[in-house]
Amino acid sequence: MEHYKRTHTCGELREADEGKSAVLNGWVDRVRNLGGIFFISLRDRYGITQVVVDEDSGAEALAQAAELHNEYCIAAAGTVRARPEGMRNAEIATGGIELYANALSILNRCAPLPFQLGEESPAKEELRLRYRYLDLRQPRMQRLIKLRNDVSFATREFMEAEGFLEIETPTLIKSTPEGARDYLVPSRLSPGHFYALPQSPQLYKQLLMAAGFDKYFQIARCYRDEDARGDRQPEFTQIDIEMSFVSRNDVLTLTERLMGYIFKKTLGLELPAVFRRLTYAESIDTYGTDKPDLRFELPLRDFNSFAAESGFRAFTTALEAGGTVKALTVPGGAAFSRKQIEELEAHAMIYKAKGLAWMKAGADENGTLKLEGGAAKFFDTKADNICKALDAKPGDIILMCTDSNRQTACVSLGAVRSKLGKDLYLTADNGAAQRFEFVWVVDFPLFEWNSDENRWEAAHHLFSYPQERFHASMESEPGAVLGDLYDLVLNGYELASGSIRIHDPELQKRVFAIAGFSDKEAEERFGFLTGAFKYGAPPHGGIAPGLDRLVMLMAGETSIKEVIAFPKNSFAEGLMDGCPARVNEKQLAELYLRTQTPPGTH
Ligand code: AMO
Repeated sequence: MEHYKRTHTCGELREADEGKSAVLNGWVDRVRNLGGIFFISLRDRYGITQVVVDEDSGAEALAQAAELHNEYCIAAAGTVRARPEGMRNAEIATGGIELYANALSILNRCAPLPFQLGEESPAKEELRLRYRYLDLRQPRMQRLIKLRNDVSFATREFMEAEGFLEIETPTLIKSTPEGARDYLVPSRLSPGHFYALPQSPQLYKQLLMAAGFDKYFQIARCYRDEDARGDRQPEFTQIDIEMSFVSRNDVLTLTERLMGYIFKKTLGLELPAVFRRLTYAESIDTYGTDKPDLRFELPLRDFNSFAAESGFRAFTTALEAGGTVKALTVPGGAAFSRKQIEELEAHAMIYKAKGLAWMKAGADENGTLKLEGGAAKFFDTKADNICKALDAKPGDIILMCTDSNRQTACVSLGAVRSKLGKDLYLTADNGAAQRFEFVWVVDFPLFEWNSDENRWEAAHHLFSYPQERFHASMESEPGAVLGDLYDLVLNGYELASGSIRIHDPELQKRVFAIAGFSDKEAEERFGFLTGAFKYGAPPHGGIAPGLDRLVMLMAGETSIKEVIAFPKNSFAEGLMDGCPARVNEKQLAELYLRTQTPPGTH
C-alpha cells in the first residue's frame, strides 16, 4: 500500500503542478474507453480529477483500467500534465490538468450498485437509507455533512471565545412526564426500574447553574418518541445554552451574535445584527401562526368592523359569539379558479375553519372599485373603504375566515397564507442568494388547556418564569399568564426555544400545582431540581437551537434527514442496521423483562 499512498487529494492538483509526480486515491466516478485510451474520473470528498491510461502507461496499468467499473476504489500514480486546449473542463477545479498514469491499482472492487450515484440521484429514500454509506459518498451529501461539521465547529469557536464551558450531561436519566414520550432503557441492576433518554438536557443545565457554571453550552443529543415529520427525528441534536444572572435580552442578543457568527463563517453571509421581534399575540394576529415565514409579508387583517355591519350571517353570528373575522388580500389572486379557491378552503378546514369566504377586487370602466363573486354581494357598497383598509387593488382576491374562537379564525387563515407562500413561489430564491428571515416570537402563554385531559399544562416546559405582573393572578387565571418565553423562527420553522427560568422553589411549586402535580408527585419527579434551588440557585435562563434544523435551513433542504449522517425513517427505524430489533431471551431474562406481541404483528 505504501507505494500507492496518496500524495494529493482528487481536488488539489492545478496547472501549476504540471510535471509533478502524484499518487491519487479515490472512487471511480466514471470510466470511458475511447479507442484504447481510458479516461477515469477519480473522485474523493475533495473533488474529481481525470486520470488517463493508455498504451504508454504499461500493460499492467492498461489491464487494470480495462477492469474498472463505477465505485471501484483505486490508486493511480503518474505525472500531472496540462490538458490540451479545448479539452479543459471549466466546471471542475482540477479541469485544467489530468494525471497521466504509469501505474494503477484496484484497492477494492464494488459489487453491482443498488442505485446509481450521481449529483441528482433519483434513488428512493428507502434505498438511500438502507445503503446510507453509498448515499453519503455522493458530493451533495458530502457537502451537507461538511456544512454540519462547519456549523458545529463555528458554534464551539464562538462559545469558547464568549467564555462558555462545554459540559456533557448524562443520557441515562430519570423519566419526567412532560413534553414528548420518553425512550426508556431498562436497568439490569435495579430490576423493574428504567432510565429515560433525555428529551433535552434541561434539568441538568439548570443544575449546572446552581453549581456555579454560569455560562454552559453543549452540542447535545436529545431523544423523543414522537411522530415523525420533515423537521423532526427521534434522535436529534441541540446547541444547548444556559446562562446565570441574565435577562431575556442577554439570551436573545447572544443568540443573534451566535447566528451571525455561524452564517458569516460558514456561508459568508452577513445577518442583521438584531432580529425582528413579534409578541406571540402579534404573530398569531398578523400571520396566524407562531412560526411565521417572513420571506413574504401577506398580513392577515381585521375585518370585524365591515363584517359587523354586513348582512352576512356566518360573520355576524361569529362576532356575536365573541369571535372574529380575518381577511387576507392576495395580489393577483382574482385570477384564481374556483378549483384553486376550493383547494385553499379545504386547507383552511384542516385547521378547523368552517369555510373560506372570498371576493375579488375589480374596477369598472371609470376606474371605480368594485367587489365581485363569492361574498361580494354583502360588501359591494363599501368596496372603496374595504379595498383601502385591506390594501386590495383590482385583480386581487380577498380571502376571509371567521370563527367564534379568535385563535381558530387566525390560525386557519394563517394556514392559507403559508400554503400561498409555497404555491405562489413567494418563498423562492429566484436564482438570487438564499434568503434567511429570522424573527423572535416572545411572550408566549405559560399554560395551555389540555382539553383531552381537562387540565392546564405547561406550553413549553414547567421551568419557565411567569412574567412578574401575573404572579398574583396565576392560580385564578392560568390561561392569561404570559411567560418569559421566546422562540427563534427562521423561514417559517421553529429554530430555537428558550426561557428565563424559575429559580424560586415556592414559585416553582405553584407552577407544578397549576399543571396538576401534587406536592408529593412534584417532589418525586423533580425533587432533585427544586432541592437544589433551596441552596442559593442563581437567576438563570437559556435557549436551545436545533442543530439539525439550522443546518437543514442553511442548506436550503426541507428534510432534516438530509443533514444527519445516519437518520431514522418515518417509523423510527434504522434501515441500514435494522433497528429496532428483537433481542434474545437471555438478554430479556437478565433485565427481568418479557415481551408481548401486539396482535397483527410477528
Ligand atoms: P424545545 O423542545 O423547544 O426546547 O427544543 C428546542 C429546539 O430543538 C429542536 N427540536 C428538534 N429537532 C429535530 N427533531 C426533533 N424531534 C426536535 N424537537 C426539538 C427545534 C427546537 O426549537 N430544553 C428546551 C430548550 C430551553 O428551554 O432552553 C427544549 O428542548 O429546533
